[in-house]
Amino acid sequence: MEVIRVEGGHSVSGTVTVEGAKNSALKLMAATILAPGVTTLQNVPNISDVHIMGKVLKELGATVEVVDEHTLRIDTSTVDSWETPYSLVAQMRASTAVLGPLLARFGKAIVAMPGGCNIGARKIDMHILGLQALGVVFDMDHGDIHASAPQGLVGATVTLDFASVGATENLIMASVHAKGVTVIDNAAREPEIVDLANMLNEMGANIQGAGSPVIEIHGVGELHPVTHAVVGDRIEAGTFVAVGGLVGEPVTVRGFDPEHLGLVLRKYKQMGINIQLGEREVTVSRSGPLVPVDIQTLPFPGFPTDMQAQTMCLLAVANGACVVTENVFENRFMFASELQRMGSDIVIQGHHAVVHGVPALSGAEVRSPDLRGGAALVMAGLVADGITTVSDIYHIDRGYERFVEKLRALGAHVGRVTIPDIGLEGL
Ligand code: EPZ
Repeated sequence: MEVIRVEGGHSVSGTVTVEGAKNSALKLMAATILAPGVTTLQNVPNISDVHIMGKVLKELGATVEVVDEHTLRIDTSTVDSWETPYSLVAQMRASTAVLGPLLARFGKAIVAMPGGCNIGARKIDMHILGLQALGVVFDMDHGDIHASAPQGLVGATVTLDFASVGATENLIMASVHAKGVTVIDNAAREPEIVDLANMLNEMGANIQGAGSPVIEIHGVGELHPVTHAVVGDRIEAGTFVAVGGLVGEPVTVRGFDPEHLGLVLRKYKQMGINIQLGEREVTVSRSGPLVPVDIQTLPFPGFPTDMQAQTMCLLAVANGACVVTENVFENRFMFASELQRMGSDIVIQGHHAVVHGVPALSGAEVRSPDLRGGAALVMAGLVADGITTVSDIYHIDRGYERFVEKLRALGAHVGRVTIPDIGLEGL
């Protein structure tokens, strides 16, 4: 079994450059289905979720060429299937991002119903309701979603119950050829949505208002392939900003737009972290104690749920108490439960976590609950007393490229170690 082992108490400082955003790259890859031909995606992160999305596209008949570590050349002119197997959807629920493009291109799609994951039920009812408004008919058959639009998709106004990222993206992609105008109200505003709309408009789509709560998609004819660079990963960047805030020594994070971390940086400043803004970089450091502040996660531009665990790690050693409220996912506090093993004092009450800062954490064996929680546990190990061993690190590899190497380059004493499985099969 491979684990990440980190020894706390060492100096961590320097410059790190983040990759392209996982949560944009996966959707941009799906969107290439809408433009038959060869689309080149640059600044693509080399992570396992991207590899899985590559398999999904190949399963549909596309060719995916790895030009270099961060550049993919995807030819979707040969896409001749509209069915995504459960085996791939089960590995990565983001595979459902092909639903919209397949409907727009073929007027039909068969996608396995995604299961939940350990942060929540991850339903897609809002995707389905929105697509039904565009004329899509759904049947459920043995765990597969059979979607079809016999009369083609017709533009309509869809008001989302919640500013769902995935639902917004599927509706944008499904409606690029729809007759007339589609309006998505209460749309998600994440920078990854803007990146997707930008690429689709470069392909010839007509999408207005991405990044605002109301997005208008005017149906157009054929789209053409393009070359597009993935937006910088604000969550990977935020993770290293949190590392700098935690260890206190100067850490410069490059390769992303600091505007995309607006509220996070403002909250971190309130927590006593020095933030120096650059063009496409941020330098963080800290001279005094961490100050507790209340956090509540919300859709962008609110505080990102994907930064909740990393921020909880900071608050766990702040000098005072605060409350972290998770409003986006129903079960995203497992990181806090694991952090208890390292001596944190956090009481979970429903979707609130009452955090009482402790003077120091102590190293322990912990398990990665999801990709952000896993990264946050490694982060905790940087300042914990002694050795911290993080297992289930496949979660981290889904969303962080060379996470250990990047931390080592900052001086951290961290490495990937293979240890014997304590398999229970013999019992
Ligand atoms: C995307 O997930 C991201 N994943 C998540 O990042 C991120 O946490 C989330 O957006 C919120 O920002 C990718 O982009 C691949 P949602 P998504 O639809 O699209 C519920 C990470 O760590 N919901 O905005 O699934 C849903 O269960 C991952 O990189 C419905 O109930 O998020 C969740 O509780 C984790 N019905 C909430 O809404 C629906 O039809 C927000 O989901 C859709 C969503």
